[in-house]
Amino acid sequence: MSRFSYLTHLECSESGATAPSDRLQTFSEDGFPFLARYDLKALSEEVDRDRWSARRPSGFWNYHELLPVQDPANVVSLGETQTPLIEISTVLEKIPGRFGKLYVKDEGRLPTHSFKARGMAAAVSKARELGVTHCAVPSAGNAGAALSAYAARAGLTSVVVCPNDTHETILNEIRQYGAELITIDGLIQDCGKYIRERAGEHGWFDFSTLKEPYRIEGKKTIAFELAVQLDWKPPSVIFYPTGGGTGLIAIWKAYHELKELGWIDGPLPRMIAVQAAGCAPIVKAWEDGDIKAGPWPDATTRALGLRVPAAFGDRLILRGVRESDGFAIAVSDEELSAAKTELARETGLLCCLEGAATYAAFKVAVERSMISEADTVVCFNSGSGLKDDA
Ligand SMILES: Cc1ncc(COP(=O)(O)O)c(C=O)c1O
Repeated sequence: MSRFSYLTHLECSESGATAPSDRLQTFSEDGFPFLARYDLKALSEEVDRDRWSARRPSGFWNYHELLPVQDPANVVSLGETQTPLIEISTVLEKIPGRFGKLYVKDEGRLPTHSFKARGMAAAVSKARELGVTHCAVPSAGNAGAALSAYAARAGLTSVVVCPNDTHETILNEIRQYGAELITIDGLIQDCGKYIRERAGEHGWFDFSTLKEPYRIEGKKTIAFELAVQLDWKPPSVIFYPTGGGTGLIAIWKAYHELKELGWIDGPLPRMIAVQAAGCAPIVKAWEDGDIKAGPWPDATTRALGLRVPAAFGDRLILRGVRESDGFAIAVSDEELSAAKTELARETGLLCCLEGAATYAAFKVAVERSMISEADTVVCFNSGSGLKDDA
């Protein structure tokens, strides 16, 4: 008999020390993110890959065996759909060289109109399973919108702390879901500090990137969908807009799980961390050959989701980039804004600035011959362009 979830335990991403997953956890005693582990052997014996992917309607919770919620009654859902993988190879006609195929994975179609819905759907569901009632998150906007929507759906309270220059459209969205919204004069790490200093007193559970273990689990569904959409053959290259890096780490983790299950063929994708030139700590660490990233001083970019001067998951991001034979690359605000306009006009896709950055980086990578002409490329559009104030 198959189980709803094959989750077994948590493991420190650096030391490998284990921790139980049947109680509330944050990060490891050594101060590093936890990774959730599953009984993949039993799963491969008890669940058939093609039946797994043929479940209808398609969508997020169909992948429940590789998600952390044990009891289906705890699933909090807002109707997460499989997001489309849209081929935009026509734009390649203007780019010298011939590529296999170029796609955009468009996450603007998810609840709350960004990929942050995936992480929060899993994290809020699991938190509810483990008894959390008060949720808190520091956010550049989209994670806060997703947390407050899923918390509302689950009947939990939420507090969101954002920098005071966050897009007004998203601040309004957060207010409408009924969250307590606090804006401060500072960056995302200052918002995180604000929550840490008050969490004990108010009984808040902190959903900060990688400081709770399950947002990345939800984001693994990006790779599960890609696997199904590309007939179990990983794309050659994935360009991912990297702030805290949850999605990049999650996609890499998910491909490993699929490989271990024996469900995919061929080499795993090269993972490309795309950052803004005004805040590129991962790019600097990658170029310097470091295993961790130093904090980036005076971070500035219009792509607010990429304005993360110090990522808690820096080692995991860099490990994913290196292990996959990928690279890290920065684009200027001018390049990413121009990419947004070009994508809208040439393909009809209104990507957010962070998502458009991946297309800008793709073009730079082609120019510098960093990817091969035979590659099948996925640019990850993390949210709807309607959420950018300008
Ligand atoms: C639209 C958008 N894209 C990308 C990112 C960066 O995501 P991650 O923290 O997974 O690197 C964010 C984070 O706020 C975002 O809102």
